[in-house]
Amino acid sequence: MLRFGGDYNPEQWPEEVWAEDLRLMSEAGVNMATVAVFSWSRLEPEQGAWDFAWLDRILDLLHEHGIDADLATATATPPPWLVRAHPEMMPVTADGVRLEFGSRQGYCPSSPVYRTHAVRLARTLATRYASHPALKMWHIGNEYADHTLECFCEVSAAHFRTWLEARYGTIGGLNAVWGTSCWGQLYTGFDQVEPPRTAPGPVNPAQLLDWRRFCSDALLELFEAEKAALREVTPDIPVTTNFMSILHGLDYWKWAAAEDLVTDDAYPDPADPESHVAIALSYDLMRSLKRQPWLLLESSPSAVSWRAVNAPKPPGMMRLHSLQALAHGSDGVMFFQWRQARFGPEKFHSALLPHGGTATRGWQETLQLGRDLKALAEVAGSYEQAQVALVLDWDSWWGLEAPESMPSDRLKLKELLLDWYRPLHARGIAVDLAPPGRDLTGYRLVIVPNLYLCTEESAKALSAFDGELVVGPFSGVVDAADQVHPGGAPGPLRDLLGVTVEEFWPLHDGVTQATTAGAARTWTEWIHATDAEVVARYRGGELDGRPAITRKGGVTYLSCRLDDPAPFLDTVLARADVHGVEVPRGVEAVRRAGHLFLLNHTTDPQRITLPQAGTDLLTATSRQGEIELAPRDAVVLRLEGRK
Ligand code: GLA
Repeated sequence: MLRFGGDYNPEQWPEEVWAEDLRLMSEAGVNMATVAVFSWSRLEPEQGAWDFAWLDRILDLLHEHGIDADLATATATPPPWLVRAHPEMMPVTADGVRLEFGSRQGYCPSSPVYRTHAVRLARTLATRYASHPALKMWHIGNEYADHTLECFCEVSAAHFRTWLEARYGTIGGLNAVWGTSCWGQLYTGFDQVEPPRTAPGPVNPAQLLDWRRFCSDALLELFEAEKAALREVTPDIPVTTNFMSILHGLDYWKWAAAEDLVTDDAYPDPADPESHVAIALSYDLMRSLKRQPWLLLESSPSAVSWRAVNAPKPPGMMRLHSLQALAHGSDGVMFFQWRQARFGPEKFHSALLPHGGTATRGWQETLQLGRDLKALAEVAGSYEQAQVALVLDWDSWWGLEAPESMPSDRLKLKELLLDWYRPLHARGIAVDLAPPGRDLTGYRLVIVPNLYLCTEESAKALSAFDGELVVGPFSGVVDAADQVHPGGAPGPLRDLLGVTVEEFWPLHDGVTQATTAGAARTWTEWIHATDAEVVARYRGGELDGRPAITRKGGVTYLSCRLDDPAPFLDTVLARADVHGVEVPRGVEAVRRAGHLFLLNHTTDPQRITLPQAGTDLLTATSRQGEIELAPRDAVVLRLEGRK
């Protein structure tokens, strides 16, 4: 079964409305609702004064209508009574400002008060609903790192010190790793170490890197603490927390390992005609995190309410974007939210049931999607490893984007990933993401857009891979401590790549550097091909005639960011014997196990020659040869000979 439904906030509505909610949910084919995400103050308006009656009734109603509950632990907004009793649990900014109650996610991730009460609430809910038949999934917290990724208060500082002590053992160990002999920062005790609050100048980048690691870990500890309480009471109910698509702040490889199911919230901007590409990258990450199907837990039926200008989704786009998530491995499509709110900051956020009720095109599209998801039920659960992988590492991302100490602040990891992802996606080639230490067996082509921070273990894993390997610029520069590898880049990748990098040569915005493989932008390097063949050279400028791209065995090194990597990519794909599906620009072709999704993201009809005959599950018709796809329309083919 594919999941269909969304966030349901019945506490924002009088009970008379609930019956209609459930009737319409049934009509639309909703089979899962996320409930109680922000309900702490409603469930426990004063400490220990529980009010479960409304949630009892809602869970009963859901179950009576055959709808499963993704039940939240309700810890995303601690209630006013707790904040007033413990004002110190509110987060503090890097400038020392303590934030006020009045929004959501108002807690210091390290606050023992918040943690104790959150775990108490999770356990209480688990105990009450352990045997409720509607309970099918636990939704811990909500979008960790949304609003509150970090806190700079004294409690956080103490927690950071404990984390550092566990990592380095002695202050001498920390001094060595942080390189505190630079700028006179030698510490003589952990009690002198603070979070990277606003300082007179650039902060030690090793301290910043550890802070990023710590902040991701501190939130994960919270998740783990709630999970432990749930596991004690309901060991068989899967747990998740909703991710925020590809996100700088949290190391999702680590986080996903702590979850039973990866779920994601995705909000591509309807006004951006290319937004389906970046979101596809996120979806592929979600599928790759646990190498299994995932679930789109929140998306938007039409407009959101948090952009400066919130464009609605034109007719057909909600369906198309939903099918896209399925194509990339989601086992359903869920939304924020069921019924459009009348008050609060999200009253203009779209919903499955709009302000205008059932007399709206929005509601008609909700009904249509419900029917489509039923027709597509057979894709649920299917998973297949791709032939191409992009390597992504959070430590390296954090190091690369440290402020104020890099040769250039223009190398952004997400953009570097998209440089490669975009042409792969346009060619209908499925892509996985992988952490650098993962066993890469089975891939034909692995691309490392950038691996600024590269450990010996990562280098070893990459060296063990025997397919086509492409390594992007500014890789192998520093170790896990953000210290430059002896002899400089590419450090532990030197033997693998057969090059040494003498000097980084970043380019200003708008400047390009010619190479025999096309123009480079943002970044070039002065390199030596010590044990590699030179396949492209710089042309003109200071680097004229020097190697730009090298190759050793099946391993290519790019010392620059190619303005258009597509022609180069095509030669690598040919060598790796990887083939996609030929489609017109703006049409997305995605294989999911034995199915082929063809999604027309353009506003024109498009003609496509099917690579294989099959049955379109959406219309239950056989299709072969050339087909026409209407604007924003899709076909989902069960390929012949496959089930
Ligand atoms: C996030 C939150 C939801 C809601 C949506 C609106 O995903 O988890 O509670 O605020 O954004 O887009």
